Amino acid sequence: MTLDVAAVRAAYPALADGYAYLDGAAGTQVPASVIYAISAAHRSGLGNAGGVFPASKRADIVTAQCRQAVADLTGGSPGGVILGPNMTTLTYRLAGTLARAWGPGDEVVVSRLDHDANVRPWVQAAARAGAVVRWAEVELPAGELPAGQYDSLMSERTVLVAVTAASNVLGTRPAVAEITAKARAVGALSYVDGVHATPHGPTDVAALGADFYATSAYKWSGPHVGAVVADPGLLETLHPDKLEPAPGTVPERFEQGTPPFADLAGVTAAVDHLASLEPSAAGPRRERILASMAAAHDHEQALFQVLLDGLGAVPEVTLYGKAPRRTATAYFTVAGKAPAEVAAHLADRKVNVWNGHNYAWELTGVLGIREAGSAVRAGLVHYNDRSDVDRLLAAVAELAD
Ligand SMILES: Cc1ncc(COP(=O)(O)O)c(C=O)c1O
Repeated sequence: MTLDVAAVRAAYPALADGYAYLDGAAGTQVPASVIYAISAAHRSGLGNAGGVFPASKRADIVTAQCRQAVADLTGGSPGGVILGPNMTTLTYRLAGTLARAWGPGDEVVVSRLDHDANVRPWVQAAARAGAVVRWAEVELPAGELPAGQYDSLMSERTVLVAVTAASNVLGTRPAVAEITAKARAVGALSYVDGVHATPHGPTDVAALGADFYATSAYKWSGPHVGAVVADPGLLETLHPDKLEPAPGTVPERFEQGTPPFADLAGVTAAVDHLASLEPSAAGPRRERILASMAAAHDHEQALFQVLLDGLGAVPEVTLYGKAPRRTATAYFTVAGKAPAEVAAHLADRKVNVWNGHNYAWELTGVLGIREAGSAVRAGLVHYNDRSDVDRLLAAVAELAD
């Protein structure tokens, strides 16, 4: 199965502006169908949730459809999809809720590969509870997170293991299923950060063994909405702070205040868009998603090889990370140039990339590059094509001259 990338690109109005959008890891563009779904939700008349009139019922339907869409994307259950503004907010909420049961002697395991959003909420919640934090270390220069180290990091005192399904700068995909199995074996819960992983291939929360799986729709062609997917039975055992009159049901009791209903319609449209990336895929949406995301993965990886070969051929370029399993995300520096300078030069050549730590705070510290401005990140998603990569490579070559 191959992606018709020209057809995919035509679905995204923003891509017509002539820039190479290699900043997808920080947020993707949205297809016209998502823009339309958000505006159609507003046009149709949208009330607040839980009322007896049609506009209110539409808000309830939009919310239910969004939970189902996220469940289809991740392999979870719609009754366990918690919606919120973004992954960071939801993770703080879950950390605060889970930590109510923690105390001195309990232990939490975090990793130095993770985005800070899956580190600091746990470190801070553990500190308040008097629990101990243990750190899983990154092996350099490969940028891997060896699963074997978790045997010595965990014991019957471990209450939670937080780990990423993919690094947002190196792309490294740790052996999450192995890590979560070790957590389960000692009776600990696992919280998997799927924000960077979800857009780059098929996701199956059950196969990952994740008790909680966090994702953000704006990384996969949707609006700025976050979600955490969990077993509804597990959520029934947890009691977050909530307003007295707010719903006490699961998953609603984990959601604070009024959701952005029209954006939720956009999330559903984004999932439908992902499901359509491989047009020959048939069957229920979940199956079409799996086929489409597999095609997106293959497309990105083929292009990534071109990107890596091209950057690797420039002697002035240092590439960070070389894990065999990783997303199509390149993190590099150019000798004698600050990452901010490189990014500015690329912007002049109409190439969008990010420079800096990108909140991979611990990791850029371990790599020893944070103080010097870290590195430049060029990430591929399904809508990138060969011309995007060629433009980046030509612009980097100019810098190296
Ligand atoms: C791997 C990873 N985790 C977490 C986050 C934070 O997500 P959000 O912006 O939804 O809070 C990001 C955002 O860049 C990310 O890349």
